[in-house]
Amino acid sequence: MEIVILPDGAAVGEAAAARIAAVVRQKPEAVLGLSTGSSPLGTYRALAERVRRGEVDLSRARGFALDEYVGLEPGSPQSYAATIARDAVEPLGLDPARVRVPPGDADDLEAACAEYEQAMREAGGVDVQLLGLGANGHIGFNEPTSSFASRTRMKTLAPRTREDNARFFGDDLDAVPLHCVTQGLGTILEARRLLLVAQGEAKAAAVAAMIEGPLSAMVPGSALQLHPAATVLLDEAAASHLLLTDYYRFVEEHRPAWQRVV
Ligand code: GLP
Repeated sequence: MEIVILPDGAAVGEAAAARIAAVVRQKPEAVLGLSTGSSPLGTYRALAERVRRGEVDLSRARGFALDEYVGLEPGSPQSYAATIARDAVEPLGLDPARVRVPPGDADDLEAACAEYEQAMREAGGVDVQLLGLGANGHIGFNEPTSSFASRTRMKTLAPRTREDNARFFGDDLDAVPLHCVTQGLGTILEARRLLLVAQGEAKAAAVAAMIEGPLSAMVPGSALQLHPAATVLLDEAAASHLLLTDYYRFVEEHRPAWQRVV
């Protein structure tokens, strides 16, 4: 696992954007794994700036989002379909027809989840998956005790996740859906590269458990330990509970030029 500790959230966004831009420059039709929440916003901002400057063109890239709520009114601004359209598709110049979000409103959710997985396979799989980390260690909406072999499916949100996300629903906990659809940990692990961004002290314990703790279904993010090309970009606060920070900084300082992205 590549662990990079950066001075602040803006630097995390820049570093993640540089990595995604490098993938798309090499493969303009790259398949991007998109994520929601506040964590990736700095990445989308920095990437949009690169698009604006003409350094990278995402118009031919494809996108698959990680997760979606179940049970929201169609067109709800809190849906991840609306969030991805607003935060990623529009500012990045992605083609909306090439971006998909997991089905949250299908009559037959199981069949719709299987079809979503099939569409990801037919697109050739995800080239780079952007991830945030929940304060309870979740990735996507794979809550603690999710199987490492799980595929896209319906889940029940953990109380902590509903509380954390109530801020997107006017602080009204009752308005936060009980259920969601999420790519599974097994699905996420099939992406060619994983890029997890985390900022702030509130994530520090989950970050330390994910990187330095045991592989455990109690910490779904620890699935990254199983991936051969996982990068974790952290600001100082999110890195503050790690034990081996001196080593991670040493690795960065001595990274061979051929391995550098930024
Ligand atoms: C949300 C999303 C995740 C996200 C995580 C962290 O509920 N389902 O994909 O990474 O929780 O959210 P935030 O970045 O807002 O802290």
